[in-house]
Amino acid sequence: MDDPAFDVETDLQTQSILLAAANHDIPSLRNLLRNSSANVQDSETGFTPLHAAIAACEPDSEEDTQQSKGHTNGDTKSANEDAKPHEVEAANKTIKFLFENGAIWNDLDVNGETPGCIARRLGLKELYELCVDAGVRAELLLSRLDEYQPLGDAESDEESDEDDTKAEEEMEGIEVVDIGQEDVQGDESTENPAYLASTLTFDRDRLLDGSANGVMMEWETTLMQRSAELLLPTSGLRVLNIGHGMGIIDGIFQEKQPKSHHIIEAHPDVIKRLKEQGWHEKPGVVIHEGRWQDIVPGLVEKGELFDAIYFDTFAEEYKALREFFTEYVIGLLDPAGGSDGEGGRFGFFNGMGADRQVVYDVYNKIVEIDLFEAGFDTEWETISVPNLDEQGEWEGVRRKYWVLENYKLPTCSFIG
Ligand SMILES: C[S@@+](CC[C@H](N)C(=O)[O-])C[C@H]1O[C@@H](n2cnc3c(N)ncnc32)[C@H](O)[C@@H]1O
Repeated sequence: MDDPAFDVETDLQTQSILLAAANHDIPSLRNLLRNSSANVQDSETGFTPLHAAIAACEPDSEEDTQQSKGHTNGDTKSANEDAKPHEVEAANKTIKFLFENGAIWNDLDVNGETPGCIARRLGLKELYELCVDAGVRAELLLSRLDEYQPLGDAESDEESDEDDTKAEEEMEGIEVVDIGQEDVQGDESTENPAYLASTLTFDRDRLLDGSANGVMMEWETTLMQRSAELLLPTSGLRVLNIGHGMGIIDGIFQEKQPKSHHIIEAHPDVIKRLKEQGWHEKPGVVIHEGRWQDIVPGLVEKGELFDAIYFDTFAEEYKALREFFTEYVIGLLDPAGGSDGEGGRFGFFNGMGADRQVVYDVYNKIVEIDLFEAGFDTEWETISVPNLDEQGEWEGVRRKYWVLENYKLPTCSFIG
């Protein structure tokens, strides 16, 4: 039952918190948060206290705004000079205080912006980094908790209950962000089994699934070309590619005349096309039909070793990629392999979170940490991506899975 008096009071409380956040007034915030949450949202703007604290640094005089626009030419990424240093410092402290009090880093306002998006748009690098770091902490904790549940099962019931409560407490203020591999949030058609059962359409320059989601597109060729160069610098090496798609990277691998070239592919339509194109007759090619999850353990058991491994699947979450490099790459990559005998190399399509810069940045830090924990050093190369909208790439595609200016290309090798 709605109580209008209660609604008014809640709204007043929300407005007071947002105002204190916008004023960077930590003592008032401390008072207000004693019996309220750091994640209240304005019903009209969708602003949380984090949004308010960051947006308050926007230059507000017309002159300032003109200047800011002039500086940035519509791209506000370098507007930092326009914000007053003392104001940014106060915002910095407020944001830290809000995060310490459970503020969620990736809530969206009505414009579809997270607090980090606003900081980036206003060129507030320091505040942006605070949001990225909070995202990394939250997502790492969540993924560790995910692993931690089954471990809890082995403990006594009493201990498990205590641990569950602790875990729930720690989870307060943390929200999962979907950083799935080219994944569409909440869309069943892009879950792996549904995708594998859907009918694909092959066009000259794209591969679409049954719901018109882009599985692979020709604009990615530059990225595939560079990955292949870094993974297979010379001929005569052994390569494993997971996910054939349009066969772009496999075509480039073939040009490098590998000694052996294994391909794992799960989708029946891709397998059919791959056969029609005579891939099974190409030199050194071994095709494994099925999901990598079902094929890879057999390769490890057989003791197959590779100089290079590339991973680019579709409709799988980040968890799958992490499982692959944590559990299997170590058994498949030759530590004495590669063109110089200094160890094989592993690469993957780095497209997670690529529909929002802040999520991409969070994800890149997380993947680097996870790779390091799994025993890999990662080298990053930045490759600029043309404006895909201007090129009409997304026409007829359900959702843009890439909106960023730069691709960060990872190449991993064993630590030491
Ligand atoms: C993005 S495409 C790969 C594009 C490829 N890198 C290229 O250069 O054309 C992803 C491919 O992974 C396949 N795939 C998806 N899930 C898979 C799984 N679990 N195991 C093996 N292949 C999978 C898809 O059918 C699709 O062919």
